[in-house]
Amino acid sequence: AKKVDYLIVGSGLFGSVCAYELNKRGKTCMVIDKRYHQGGNVYCEAVEDINVHKYGAHIFHTNDKKIWDYVNSFVEFNRYTNAPIANYKGELYNLPFNMNTFYQLWGVKTPDKAKEIISQQINNLNIKNPENLEEQALSMVGTDIYEKLIKGYTEKQWGRNPKDLPAFIIKRLPVRFTFNNNYFDDKYQGIPIGGYNKLIEGLLEEIEIKLNVDYFKDKQQWDSLADRIIYTGKIDEYFGYRFGNLEYRSLKFEQSILNQQNYQGNAVINYTDTDTPYTRIIEHKHFEFGKQPKTVITKEYSQEWKPGTEPYYPVNDQKNSKIYNQYKQLADDESNVIFGGRLAEYKYYDMHQVIASAWTKIKRLEQYDRVD
Ligand code: FDA
Repeated sequence: AKKVDYLIVGSGLFGSVCAYELNKRGKTCMVIDKRYHQGGNVYCEAVEDINVHKYGAHIFHTNDKKIWDYVNSFVEFNRYTNAPIANYKGELYNLPFNMNTFYQLWGVKTPDKAKEIISQQINNLNIKNPENLEEQALSMVGTDIYEKLIKGYTEKQWGRNPKDLPAFIIKRLPVRFTFNNNYFDDKYQGIPIGGYNKLIEGLLEEIEIKLNVDYFKDKQQWDSLADRIIYTGKIDEYFGYRFGNLEYRSLKFEQSILNQQNYQGNAVINYTDTDTPYTRIIEHKHFEFGKQPKTVITKEYSQEWKPGTEPYYPVNDQKNSKIYNQYKQLADDESNVIFGGRLAEYKYYDMHQVIASAWTKIKRLEQYDRVD
């Protein structure tokens, strides 16, 4: 007999939810991860007693009460509400675009006046068929919002002039005519009290886990331990990059400890001009309303991804989707290996979506077991 029913490659949210759900159903699991810590990209590191979101700001939000109750059963969530600020050449604006933003831009005090200015700007531009991202954005929000709050940020994010980016990247640009700075429309939102590690620890409490091990260094030996594999790493890597690399946008994080209690007064400030090289500054303590004497901030730079660097955002353009589909076909033929999560599915998943997806995959396995 094999040592365990399931070997799970990757201890991120996808792998951890699978491990918990399988264990609950009486299956034995072992989780391995090549990093020095568990949790994948939701991992937090305590610095100056502040939970630092090591791989970028993570704000949990969902409309699904089942998912909200699930995560809260492992760790209580606080009432953090994401309300980012934009800094454009030293001017501050509320995000997402709402009545506060319009007051700051034009001094208007009523929804009617704000609507009038926006439609005037859109009409003056007279864009019939937007042919690139710039025209697409301009035709939805007009000149001022685009120039001050979208243009520079987008250029930095993609490393390209918005005129050279396809229009389809921006499908909607929500504009709100209420004084409401809450970034998400979802019913539930918050941050785990004590950080995301508590959530992962709860999920993996009864699971054997081995860190600092790369599955591919000893694939055969790992495979021999389990009946089935759940693989949450990169799909192109699994198949030896035989169809080429799938591309990503990457990020660089520059973290510093400051000897002051409160640096910027908000967790997230976006820098929307191109004079500032970074896209945003995160001040981590504000996610948990921290009162520590010092503070930790992270400057986030958007970067081109190169093989060997951390992959963050999949580039789901035609070229990469075609390559992905080739890998997907091989994956479908791989019996006893389940591919899931953001890297194995080459898909941007929010945390609540990755949980839902893990649930679905486990349910499918359960059905499969019954017919087995
Ligand atoms: P994840 O990458 O976390 O886990 C995969 C694991 O597999 C890693 O630990 C890796 O080390 C391991 N692994 C890979 N290859 C291996 C190998 N060969 N051997 C062993 N181990 C291997 N979501 C949200 O809801 N709100 C938010 O605010 C944000 N913010 C955000 C910011 C940024 C910058 C990013 C990139 C993403 C977000 N997200 C988010 C999304 C969120 O991070 C995401 O949904 C989950 O972390 C995905 O979990 P996975 O388990 O799929 O991948």
